[in-house]
Amino acid sequence: MTIQSELEAQFSAQGLNPQMAMEGLKHLKPINYWEYTAVDSLLTLQKPRTHFPDEYIFIVYHQITELVFNLMLHELKQLCAETTPPVEAFKEKIPRLSNYTRMLSNSFNVMTKGMNYDQYNTFRHSLSPASGFQSAQYRLIEIYCTQLQNLARTAPAESSVAEKFGHIYWQHAGLDRTTGKKTFTLRQFEEKYLNKFIETASAIELNTLEDKINQLIANGQMDDETKAAAREFDHLYNVSWPLVHLETAQHYLNAKGENKAATGGSEWQKYLHPRYQKRIFFPALWTEEEKNNWGDF
Ligand code: HEM
Repeated sequence: MTIQSELEAQFSAQGLNPQMAMEGLKHLKPINYWEYTAVDSLLTLQKPRTHFPDEYIFIVYHQITELVFNLMLHELKQLCAETTPPVEAFKEKIPRLSNYTRMLSNSFNVMTKGMNYDQYNTFRHSLSPASGFQSAQYRLIEIYCTQLQNLARTAPAESSVAEKFGHIYWQHAGLDRTTGKKTFTLRQFEEKYLNKFIETASAIELNTLEDKINQLIANGQMDDETKAAAREFDHLYNVSWPLVHLETAQHYLNAKGENKAATGGSEWQKYLHPRYQKRIFFPALWTEEEKNNWGDF
């Protein structure tokens, strides 16, 4: 079969007119790198609010992180869409999730070491009340990875998805210390994304990555390799990244024991440590002792 007849057969099978489709192919412009990657458009998306050169680093690194979060969601959506993914799908995709998370932890010194201390501590005032706290993709990854109850442990088990969001762990960062009311940062975040979160969590209920992992265990298909890969990812996302992020917050906000207020207004010293949040995606894969010491190993 020639390439031409193969293409004709393919177009016919798609219900297209093969002659017209072949004619269209003739006029396609050759692809080049800059159009394929849309790099020129990409580089118009950085909009510093101050004149400090290092604010540019801050914006670009956040954008890099959001792109990586997006790659993680790309994997999670595929895994969770299958009712019963084969063990091979876990073996392929969970290490990818770990690779992406490791990439973020290993590069975080772009923040810690890569910005001038005084510049950061000046331009950050122009960014308040915005905070990385408002990253929706960070929360969506959690919603895909684990049952909502694990992110809202104080919610009664029978509560609805929407009610559980009233107990979600991140509420602890959004309470104004003096008035007991929600901070502007949290209110804005909820106005923009809460409906989307409720919608996603409802759609994914019983089909989160944790549910799929529990299914593997119940079916006796959880082998050592898959278990180790899932534990590694859980630890990287819920301990390693939060710890390098917290160290950075300490570097800039607590260098001389000053305990500066964060742009999002949380009691960040307490809130950010994994020991307090105890976010664990796959509780069935950890011993009671490991869960009790979460964040300390
Ligand atoms: C100099 C760099 C950074 C500092 C000093 C810093 C500091 C903080 C602080 C203090 C909080 C607590 C919320 C608040 O009160 O604002 C927070 C939350 C958060 N930040 Fe950052 N951050 C930095 C960089 C980043 C980057 C690059 C990302 C990537 C998207 C990020 C993502 C987050 C997320 C997801 C939260 C919420 C964490 C949670 O709820 O457990 N941060 N950050």
